[in-house]
Amino acid sequence: MITADQLTKVYENDVMGLDHLTLEVKPGEIFCMLGANGAGKTTTINLFLNFIEPTSGTAFINGIDAVKNPLEAKKYVAYLGEVVQLYGNFTAMQNLDFFTKLGGKADVSKKEYRDCLRKVGLPERFFDTKLKKFSKGMRQRVGLAIVMMKDTPAILLDEPTAGLDPRGAQDFLDMLRVLRDQGKAVFMSTHDIFRAKDIGDRVGIMKQGVLAMVLEKEDLEEEDLEKVYLEYMRGWGVD
Ligand SMILES: Nc1ncnc2c1ncn2[C@@H]1O[C@H](COP(=O)(O)OP(=O)(O)OP(=O)(O)O)[C@@H](O)[C@H]1O
Ligand SMILES: [Mg+2]
Repeated sequence: MITADQLTKVYENDVMGLDHLTLEVKPGEIFCMLGANGAGKTTTINLFLNFIEPTSGTAFINGIDAVKNPLEAKKYVAYLGEVVQLYGNFTAMQNLDFFTKLGGKADVSKKEYRDCLRKVGLPERFFDTKLKKFSKGMRQRVGLAIVMMKDTPAILLDEPTAGLDPRGAQDFLDMLRVLRDQGKAVFMSTHDIFRAKDIGDRVGIMKQGVLAMVLEKEDLEEEDLEKVYLEYMRGWGVD
């Protein structure tokens, strides 16, 4: 569903953003990508969204080449970053309506929007409040509601729980599990080792643009992920 084959990005001045990434995230799977600042996580997501062009290699969403056919590929993927770009002067309902229509859905009832906002745990009294009055966690909930309304088979999340309080992060991950169980393929970057272990069906460790290690569910149960991660960060590659 979310597939990269030898996907590579070299920025100006030979800065390696992503080095021959080959990966497949299947329907009904959550793949968590760990990696230090500058490891290449956001670069990976930006390539799938065609925000940037790869130097070489291919990226596919739902079998559609995200470089050759970006508009078609985008129909099948929803994206949420660390800071949701929403309209401060619009209410939660208006933002949801605006972005849902932008995503190509025309006939959504107010009830469906309200049900969706309820599902992501936004308190009812905020439905008609302007976003500029929202805390980060509440904005993130609206962001997730937009992702859920788009209802795509692939979902890309760039550090979606960064800065959320423990309850907010837990709620967010519980909702991701629901999406996974609906059969969606989820790729999520994070710095939170414990949550990656908790929610990931597989966890990748990226270092200097290279996907250095992938831990399967069985490995995650046996291994001390934090120890494995820190060992990789210290001992591998040239710092
Ligand atoms: N637009 C850009 N131009 C030049 N170099 C870039 C650009 N974006 C990222 N890079 C470089 O590519 C590498 C990977 O960066 P990237 O943002 O993908 O890392 P990341 O894993 O998302 O890090 P973080 O955890 O800090 O978000 C870094 O060396 C970074 O400096
Ligand atoms: Mg990043």
